[in-house]
Amino acid sequence: MSQGDKLPYSTADRCWLRYSHQALRTGMELLSSIVVQHSSAVMDSALQEMVYGIKEMRGAEPDICRDPASASGSFVRLAILDEALPEAWTQAGQIQGLNEEGYGIHAVQQDGAVQLYVVGRTDRGVLYGVFHLLRLLQSGADLAALHVLEQPRNRLRMLNHWDNMDGSIERGYAGNSIFFEEGRFVRDDSRIRDYARMLASIGINSVSINNVNVHRTETLLITPEFLPDVARVADIFRSYGITTYLSINYASPITIGDLNTADPLDDRVRAWWKERASDIYSYIPDFGGFVVKADSEHRPGPFTYNRTHAEGANMLGEALRPYGGVVIWRCFVYNCLQDWRDRKTDRARAAYDHFKPLDGQFLENVILQIKNGPMDFQVREAVSPLLGAMPKTNQMLEFQITQEYTGQQKHLCYLVPQWKEILDFDTYTTGEGATVKRAVSGELYRYAHSGITAVVNVGSDDNWTGHTLAQANLYGYGRLTWNPDLTEEEITSEWIHLTFGASADIHRELGAMLAESWRIYESYTAPLGVGWMVNPGHHYGPNVDGYEYSVWGTYHYADCHGIGVNRTVKDGTGYTAQYFPENADLYESLDACPDELLLFFHHVPYTHVLRSGKTVIQHIYDSHFEGVEKVQELILRWSKLEGQMDHERYTGVMSRLEHQLEHAKEWRDVINTYFYRKSGIPDQQGRTIY
Ligand code: GCU
Repeated sequence: MSQGDKLPYSTADRCWLRYSHQALRTGMELLSSIVVQHSSAVMDSALQEMVYGIKEMRGAEPDICRDPASASGSFVRLAILDEALPEAWTQAGQIQGLNEEGYGIHAVQQDGAVQLYVVGRTDRGVLYGVFHLLRLLQSGADLAALHVLEQPRNRLRMLNHWDNMDGSIERGYAGNSIFFEEGRFVRDDSRIRDYARMLASIGINSVSINNVNVHRTETLLITPEFLPDVARVADIFRSYGITTYLSINYASPITIGDLNTADPLDDRVRAWWKERASDIYSYIPDFGGFVVKADSEHRPGPFTYNRTHAEGANMLGEALRPYGGVVIWRCFVYNCLQDWRDRKTDRARAAYDHFKPLDGQFLENVILQIKNGPMDFQVREAVSPLLGAMPKTNQMLEFQITQEYTGQQKHLCYLVPQWKEILDFDTYTTGEGATVKRAVSGELYRYAHSGITAVVNVGSDDNWTGHTLAQANLYGYGRLTWNPDLTEEEITSEWIHLTFGASADIHRELGAMLAESWRIYESYTAPLGVGWMVNPGHHYGPNVDGYEYSVWGTYHYADCHGIGVNRTVKDGTGYTAQYFPENADLYESLDACPDELLLFFHHVPYTHVLRSGKTVIQHIYDSHFEGVEKVQELILRWSKLEGQMDHERYTGVMSRLEHQLEHAKEWRDVINTYFYRKSGIPDQQGRTIY
């Protein structure tokens, strides 16, 4: 079997790795030979991908030459720095300065031939370089003029799976787990292999494979019962440069050990975790470490023993330290049963209140994982004030690609615009320009470990993400974690090109659909940053007072006079004080606060006039009517693309858009009716509100 014949491994949708025959325009001849000297798991993957991509585009498989001395004419050379570096390049001295995942792609013209070098600092750099070159080939780039230097901005570029071993996925909207079924690991790992390829192609280098809510069976993942299976998955990921992590249950010493405590300061507990670490590394020598959800939503944690989260995390850090492993400790810590009727108690304060005082107390191999907002992945909420606020503690940012609160992959909601806003948010922690992206990349404080992670949106569905267009969110996430300075437009057009080709119609219509979709979703759901208003449990569909943790009343405090949460220092929960002064002043002021976050920060009468000039109530009516009209426009745009792609993808997306329209109408009617009845204020435009 030749190199390229192995790929793809499964019959599932090839997403953005679909190498079309038409793509290739220039430099065909130089793609007839690949020169590669050494072999390793990662280098072999790089070679295999290169061969496969070329074969798919060119229709013929390239030769492989293992001896550079005998290579002549045009060729593609895959190499690490020590092996090959064209003279002109060395003199420029540029590639030497790259980090260990960096690479260069460089064309050298010689005696009428073109020699194309893909050179990495490490094999992983070569792999990333190969995927970059394939992207360029797919978009018909002129090979003879190539000169690329690239390195990732974030060290950790991670995905968190919320997969359970029974095969279900918490907040999963695209079928079952690709790792687990019926309490064990899947036998056919072809989907995992294709997944690893997809992730490497967008630069992801770390994956945790099980749910942060670690139930009984998953607690056993760190034991010899399942470690051989974890090692099998880690082998697959490793060959694509990806490190494997596990979520652990903090009470494991009790649940699966024979201890009666999980107190992090108890010597027996410390010894127990050290033994587990030793076991794990005997199976997986490069195991990444643990992801931990503790003391949150009924999960066990150090609070049970009156210990701090620093004490709790450091105990695990000590166990993993000898092997180079890390503890990724989530800051999503809050009391979901707290009584907020005093209007002073505020869940939004929780992460900062718990963790900020602990700055400097964590070991160097502990990283705090912080959700992008202080609440929970709402379509709109403020940026977490904890980001950038702990100079002496490693931090990483957590996004949610799976669309729990953003339409559950039935609605179109392209999240790249939201993520860009968050990454570009200025925290002012070290003065102007202290953006979130600079904090989490480690540029602001030189963290030992830092980066970005996200709850992923894939499952066993043939197209991986349920909604075909939700593939763009996974793609965009990977590209942004590699380079947060890429523009939304660059990412969108790259993804459309790779997934649907060069058609100007598709680029125009789909580009507009993606660009508008987040704001459209926002417009017909919970207004002005107030959040939730979803059905309890599954969180799908409108229910204004419905969120399951609303045991003490509603989160939004809507009554017949007004709505919103007063988070000011003046007479609210005091949350605004968690920001640095520039942002604190902005949010504290009713006049200066941006409209889209008004109800997140202030409780106002329905007649309050927004910066837009509209009253709050009229904004609610208008945005909900407009939202539905905009979904109709999405359908119109998509209908223009009939016949320009395969029938399956066209109809699959169309049927989701049609569902979205019906559901947007439901949102509109439920929200508008609720607020009309509460406020008694009619719509100025006299539209029918039931
Ligand atoms: C949300 C989500 C849960 C999840 C939790 C978390 O609350 O609804 O399913 O477990 O976030 O991030 O831990």
